Amino acid sequence: MASILPLSNVLGARIDGLDVSEPLDVKQSQWLADALHRHGFIVLKNQSLTPDQMVAFAKQWGRPSPHVIDTFHHPEDPNILILSNVFKDGKPTGLVDAGTYFHTDYSYLDDVARCTILHAQDVPPAPNGTTFANQAKAYADLPAGMKDKIKHLVVKHHYGNRDDLDKQSRTVASVLNAEQAQRVNWVHHPLVKPHPFTGQPALYAVSGSSFGIEGMPDDEAQDLLRELAAHATQDAYCYTNNYENGDVIVWDNALLLHSAPLIDLTRPRTLWRVTVLYPAGH
Ligand SMILES: [Fe+2]
Repeated sequence: MASILPLSNVLGARIDGLDVSEPLDVKQSQWLADALHRHGFIVLKNQSLTPDQMVAFAKQWGRPSPHVIDTFHHPEDPNILILSNVFKDGKPTGLVDAGTYFHTDYSYLDDVARCTILHAQDVPPAPNGTTFANQAKAYADLPAGMKDKIKHLVVKHHYGNRDDLDKQSRTVASVLNAEQAQRVNWVHHPLVKPHPFTGQPALYAVSGSSFGIEGMPDDEAQDLLRELAAHATQDAYCYTNNYENGDVIVWDNALLLHSAPLIDLTRPRTLWRVTVLYPAGH
C-alpha cells in the first residue's frame, strides 16, 4: 500500500510503496495526479525503471516531448534527455549544467510542459538537488493592487535566461547549436495562469524565458518581471529536494519555478529526464 508524506509546509511530498515500472490503474493514476496538484512535486522512492518503463510512466501524464537539445538523447529513446557530468573517452555523456536559474520547463514553447520527470541513476550525497518555488502561493500573497495590475498582461517568451545571456557563463540557458536555435521562436503566455486541472491561479514563468510584456516598453516590462521574480523566489516559497539513487520525481510546471544546482564536476551525477506536454485536447 502506497504512503504519502509531505516534505514541507510549502511544497513536495514523498511517496513510498508504489512501483511505477508497471502500468497504473485509473485509481492509482488519479491519486498520483491529485498528489502532484496538491504538493507541486512528488518523489517516488526506490524505483528502477528501464528507458521503456520510464517513457511508459511519462505517458500516463501526457505526451512526452524530446528536448530541443538533441545531442544527449538516450540512445534507446529520444524522449529521455541524459543529464550527466560524466565524461567517456574525453566526451560528455550528458548535459552537464541545465537550468541553473529559476525557470519553468518549455515556457519558451507554445505547447508548454505539464510536468517534468527525473529518474536519479547515480547521484552524489546531498546537497545535490533542485530548488522549487511555489508560484500559486506567491501569487496569492501579492497585494490586491499588483494582482489588478498584472491580471490581463501577456508575456513575451523566448528560449534563454533573461538574466544571463553570456554563452560562457554556467548560468546561461544550455547553449543551442545553429540548427537547434532555428527551431525556437517568440511565444506568448499570460502572466497569471489558472492551473489547467485545478483552476488555481499562479504566476507563470516570471523568471527565465520571459523577456517582455505586450504593450509595455521592454525596460519597464523587465523591471516588473524582476520585481515579481524576486517576490516569487523568496525562501518562504521555496524548498530544495535532494535526490537519492532510484528516485523518480515528477514536478508540476504550471505551479512551480525551479532551479537546478551548479554541478560539482568532481562528483559523478547522472539523471534521466522526460518532459511531458498536456494530454491531447487538454
Ligand atoms: Fe528545468
